[in-house]
Amino acid sequence: MSSSIIVLTGAGMSAESGISTFRDSNGLWENHRVEDVASPIAWERNPELVMNFYNLRRKNVMEAEPNAGHLALVKLEQKYDVKIITQNVDDLHERAGSSNVLHLHGEIRKARSTVDENLVYPINGWELHFGDVCEKGSQLRPHIVWFGEAVPMMPVASRLARQADILIVIGTSLMVYPAAGLLYEVPDRVPKFLIDPKASPAYGVEDLSIIRETAGSGVPALVERLMEEGG
Ligand code: APR
Repeated sequence: MSSSIIVLTGAGMSAESGISTFRDSNGLWENHRVEDVASPIAWERNPELVMNFYNLRRKNVMEAEPNAGHLALVKLEQKYDVKIITQNVDDLHERAGSSNVLHLHGEIRKARSTVDENLVYPINGWELHFGDVCEKGSQLRPHIVWFGEAVPMMPVASRLARQADILIVIGTSLMVYPAAGLLYEVPDRVPKFLIDPKASPAYGVEDLSIIRETAGSGVPALVERLMEEGG
């Protein structure tokens, strides 16, 4: 049986595809405070702003293309059992061709019911509208896990992390929990790689190699190395 590689990705994974990260520049996300557009309270107070914000993000995602980092992860599947856990809501891992992608924070190209979180639908085109309703007749909202909401996929992600033979973390500031806690669920003896140009040495995690490169250059290089080493 091939070794299991768990990959945890964050916004930096898609930065070179032209999708902006959250915490890099001025602390604002496309000129908004994150809590003003990505929280249940924001949706309650100003649904138009939230809807429009996510429509524009969706347009941006649909115009973006996977980068060399996304593509390299697909190649890794030739030798390893690769499972990607992503904090990203874009679909660039899927469009690159990765077979196993778990979205912790939702998927921007889908909508979900405001009365039943299990009713999830693909969105045609880039715009979700007021008046678009679920089969129970209630308004649809972006299928995004907002700040203050539970992360329903977390137990599945934790189970995967505990079974890893190798962990690769790419492009995340590791500031948002519970996702960041996955790093600590992987057993100590498991080799771990962190690819991020601004990675901090102070993670307190055993057997962690820090690669201060972008996803577009660091991921293909690490994949080459792992492909030579076996599976
Ligand atoms: N390649 C790799 N990493 C990069 C690149 C790049 N080209 N460009 C930036 N980075 C790194 C930054 O150094 C930073 O550490 O990507 C990281 C982005 O961090 P955040 O913006 O905090 O994104 P992320 O960690 O994914 O945020 C987690 O927070 O806002 C919420 O739900 C949202 O999923 C998101 C979560």
